[in-house]
Amino acid sequence: MKSPFAYAVLAGSLLCSTGIVASDHTEDYINTLTELGFPAPEDNELVHIPPTLEDLEQSDMHPELKRVIRRGHDLFTNTQQLRGENVFNNMNCSNCHLGEGRMPFSAPVWPAAVTLPGYRGKNDHVNNLEERIAGCFTYSMNGKPPAYGSDNMVAISAYHQWLAKGVKMYPEKPVYGRGFPAPERPEQLSYANGKQLFNDNCAVCHGEDGQGLRVDGQTVFPAPWGDGSNNWGAGIVRLVTAAGFIKNNMPLGQPLSLTDQEAWNIAYYMNSQERPQDPRYTGDIEETLEKYGPTFHKHSLYGQTRKSDGKVLGDHSNTGEKDFLQPESVHPRTFE
Ligand code: HEC
Ligand code: HEC
Repeated sequence: MKSPFAYAVLAGSLLCSTGIVASDHTEDYINTLTELGFPAPEDNELVHIPPTLEDLEQSDMHPELKRVIRRGHDLFTNTQQLRGENVFNNMNCSNCHLGEGRMPFSAPVWPAAVTLPGYRGKNDHVNNLEERIAGCFTYSMNGKPPAYGSDNMVAISAYHQWLAKGVKMYPEKPVYGRGFPAPERPEQLSYANGKQLFNDNCAVCHGEDGQGLRVDGQTVFPAPWGDGSNNWGAGIVRLVTAAGFIKNNMPLGQPLSLTDQEAWNIAYYMNSQERPQDPRYTGDIEETLEKYGPTFHKHSLYGQTRKSDGKVLGDHSNTGEKDFLQPESVHPRTFE
């Protein structure tokens, strides 16, 4: 069974759980996922069912703590309220982290709360939870993170940490459904087929020009490319990440309905379109590629020539709606 209904249940109310998860509850949870076509957990994987806002209301936590966690949830699901201040595109955090950041195979966000502080290759230093969240503000939201320790940052962090309730710090087991696991890359990727598939399966919501849909200042359908989308430094510009996101989550309500080849072709097409500049841009695309090609952009099409029209992707200084390239929070650390 792969009905949109089962999916909706999973992304919403089934993720209801009590703080202490009974084993039969875990079984139901896994069954719903496997019925949708997701793999069952491996023996050595950590399965965690994050609590819901209903659980929060029922818990005996201090009312003020509940209020702050609720505030964090509200910022996560309606990040557009920070538009012009911290967010300069059409995204909400929950547009990529489905099920309010809880959904397995949709980069559930709670693992960050139990695996950080940790070393992060992307910026080559030790990051804590706030800095990880700041990363998604900088790149995925094409923005400027709320200041470390500010009310909004504390509230968003609190939401992440509370979602991890009951999981021990630095778990030894790998987390079931973490990230956007991608199917194996096929040998050939087709731009033309990706375009056709996007127009047939995705454009009804996201638009043929990838502009998505906004109504009364709220995002109904986010923009997969263009000025309203994430910038070139965001994780989802990596083909492997986009293919994993698409395969597991799109079209909305029909996870795993595309073949691996189709998901990859669409990712290839989507990530061959323009978007705001990578905040790490040095002013020169060759130089930027020299710095970030070996680690990050080897997985993206940044700096490459699009065959359909000869355009060099990312070769511009357009920062989208914001009037700066890089927020001050993006800087190296030395711990000296
Ligand atoms: C455009 C899509 C997109 C948006 C919007 C987005 N993220 Fe992410 N996020 C990602 C990707 C991609 C990853 C990396 C997943 C992986 O590890 O493959 C990620 C990872 C994370 C992680 C780490 C999860 C882990 O397993 O350790 C956290 C925490 C996070 N995001 C928080 C946020 C917050 C908070 C916001 C809003 C301010 C946000 N994200 C907005 C795409 C997005
Ligand atoms: C029925 C409408 C609908 C269809 C069809 C659909 N999407 Fe989405 N898509 C959404 C919504 C809504 C979100 C945000 C998820 C949320 O907030 O719960 C989203 C999120 C996304 C995102 C992450 C945010 C962004 O804009 O970058 C991408 C990428 C995406 N969809 C790509 C696709 C692709 C590719 C297809 C076709 C295979 C597709 N979508 C089909 C509604 C749809």
